[in-house]
Amino acid sequence: MSDKEKKQNKVFLRTFGCQMNVRDSELICGLLQKAGYRISATEQDADIIIFNTCSVRKHAEDRVWSLIGSYKGSKIIGLMGCMAKNYQEKAFERDPSISFVVGPQDIHKLPDILKKLSVKSLLERKIWETDSVERPEEIYHTDFYQDAKHAYVVISEGCCNFCSYCVVPYVRGALRHRKHKDIMAEIHQAIDKGITKVTLLGQNVNAYQDGQINFTKILEQVNALDGLTEFDFFTSHPKDANLEFFKALHGLEKSAKRLHLPLQSGADRILTLMNRGYKIKDYLALTDSYRKIVKGGLLTTDIIVGFPGETREEFQETCAVVEKIGFNAAYIFKYSSRPGTEAAKMAGQLEQDEINKRHKKILDLQRAISKKLRSRHSDAKN
Ligand code: 5AD
Ligand code: SF4
Repeated sequence: MSDKEKKQNKVFLRTFGCQMNVRDSELICGLLQKAGYRISATEQDADIIIFNTCSVRKHAEDRVWSLIGSYKGSKIIGLMGCMAKNYQEKAFERDPSISFVVGPQDIHKLPDILKKLSVKSLLERKIWETDSVERPEEIYHTDFYQDAKHAYVVISEGCCNFCSYCVVPYVRGALRHRKHKDIMAEIHQAIDKGITKVTLLGQNVNAYQDGQINFTKILEQVNALDGLTEFDFFTSHPKDANLEFFKALHGLEKSAKRLHLPLQSGADRILTLMNRGYKIKDYLALTDSYRKIVKGGLLTTDIIVGFPGETREEFQETCAVVEKIGFNAAYIFKYSSRPGTEAAKMAGQLEQDEINKRHKKILDLQRAISKKLRSRHSDAKN
């Protein structure tokens, strides 16, 4: 490391969005530490500030733009994650204080990029790397964990489902599966470091298939690991869930027995427009089987309100499904139009006021259901 680099070697990372980004930030910290950089606990103390970002909703992007805008000073600012891929070199026009833009599939290049930046003058500092389609396997074997006991383990990257509202397939690329031997090696390494719980991650985690084993089989292998006490996984897609998977889950004693199964809408017409690949009757049958097979298992979901063209009746259908199923918890999102997606081009975009009203109504409904289920659960315990 040169003298100039040594002077600029404290990095602070701000992470936004999903667990995938939390894990990516750990990978970035691991890579940078190995290259001689120090990870700073505070922004004030850092020379380089990296924003690891999310593009799923406009609100998440707006927050990052306004935070970056608030830095006036000598820090080097970098944009990473989904917004980096979404904006690429246009990010420099949007905010000239940004010095580097690195997409989710290019994170392994970061140490090299910082090295190049350190020898450039302030005005020349513009580097972007956003074109890779895959990450090298080695980046998963850095040993930086934020939690001493729990680790996130990425088993697949990207998504090919192209739900019509979603930006993920564009920014994270096509679905790719890591080899199960590499995944198991990573978990062994984590256990050696003292990790006892893991969460397997993928945008469509239960579609896992590396050409040798499928999702159920990898759960069985994880369950059999000495030193591991608990595992869970995130996020499952209803179209890839089946009875074989539920039966396996029931039998695996280290499974946390939690299933996050995004519903998105309770109306068939909207599900078709969303390109979700299932009908409400399929979803009801699936959750019914889950409840019967994985006794006492928790069930959570994601719902989007105000999708283009969603009528009041269709919104009511979603409320009715939420009541009927009784999710332990639900993340309820206001539809956010994402440029480049199919839904952004659809007719019937709703007024924000109407979306806000529907959001509040279903949120209140879900809060009451969650509360009732929690008290039933604690009554059963007492
Ligand atoms: N608007 C609102 N919510 C969205 N999600 C994905 N894209 C959008 C969007 N454009 C939600 C979905 C998904 C969760 C991670 O984010 O419910 O399951
Ligand atoms: Fe987005 Fe649908 Fe893929 Fe989930 S399954 S990441 S909502 S496209």
